[in-house]
Amino acid sequence: MIYFDNAATSFPKPNIVYDSILKAMKEYGANPGRSGHKLALKLGREIFKTRELISKLFNIDNPMNIVFTFNCTESLNIGIKGILKKGDHVITTSMEHNSVLRPLMDLKKEGVEVTIVKGDSKGRINPEDIEKSIKKNTKLIITTHVSNLTGTIMPIERIGKIAKENGVYYLVDAAQSAGIYDIDVKKMNIDILAFPGHKSLLGPQGTGGLYIREDLDVKELKQGGTGSISHLLEQPEVRPDKYESGTPNGPGIVGLGAGIKYILQEGVENIRKYEEELTKHFIEEALKIDGVKVYGPLNINEQGAVVPINIGYEDSSEVSFILDEYYNICVRPGLHCAPLAHKTIGTFEQGVVRFSFGFYNTHDEIEKGIKAIREISKEI
Ligand code: ALA
Repeated sequence: MIYFDNAATSFPKPNIVYDSILKAMKEYGANPGRSGHKLALKLGREIFKTRELISKLFNIDNPMNIVFTFNCTESLNIGIKGILKKGDHVITTSMEHNSVLRPLMDLKKEGVEVTIVKGDSKGRINPEDIEKSIKKNTKLIITTHVSNLTGTIMPIERIGKIAKENGVYYLVDAAQSAGIYDIDVKKMNIDILAFPGHKSLLGPQGTGGLYIREDLDVKELKQGGTGSISHLLEQPEVRPDKYESGTPNGPGIVGLGAGIKYILQEGVENIRKYEEELTKHFIEEALKIDGVKVYGPLNINEQGAVVPINIGYEDSSEVSFILDEYYNICVRPGLHCAPLAHKTIGTFEQGVVRFSFGFYNTHDEIEKGIKAIREISKEI
């Protein structure tokens, strides 16, 4: 089996991820932050270690400003709905995932003004278009770092500078970049960073996180037990408890920590370079096949390890089915929860067959993928 669906969830994971989750469950799977006995304290300490590793990865000063969530969608919902109120204006792009667009459409009904800056046919966003859209009531800019459809790498440092110069907050969706591309919240002026645990951070599903700048007032989405300040009926203001009501995914967070440790040992730059080589190899070979359309910027300085293609006018789900059924190759067809991005690149009707590569893929697998596309294109 060849797994080219890493943009959805990375697979497989490093062995230390599986081992650490099992060990956490078997040896100290108590409830952290609650009971105060040895097992609860042990899991609490291990969870804190993951917070510290995330701080290191994204250059965050205080690990308590990192909130654990259950996925990037939850992180984005907190970041978006916790900041915007009626009368505020928000700027985003046509390359966003529905986990950004749907919360915004919901807020629009409640009187939040939304501007969607359009990307070009390769999914690129011009930062000047964002700057030109800023108004007196603009409170927030939201962009993805790497598109989940075209792999387009967005100029987040330039957008962060624009946001800072104009006194607007900047929220980055790092769903496809955390663990592969350098993210420095201070240097890039990122006020809020949302990221999943189960993609390129190599953790399990059911993990995600959100960094919120120290002095930023973001309302929590849920209230409940935190194991802290329990004599009060009101939700505590202390971070991260304010945002982490209810029992966390303790073993999952330990596994996420193991994934990040692995990434730091291998080196973010080495991982990126390897994925760039795979991506370059795939793009070069796919472009040679007659009747195959390849989307995105098509150069590795502007495109992450996500490459969408189409074979003639064949339905993308049909092609993905053939790849799965006859070649044992896993890809994702359809609209990828990013309808506006598809409209932007002109693939809303057909969808695309998305190939997304990870650290465990090989050049031999890329060759096999290309051979399969070549054969299918001859049949259709
Ligand atoms: N957001 C994930 C994807 O793009 C699930 O496939």
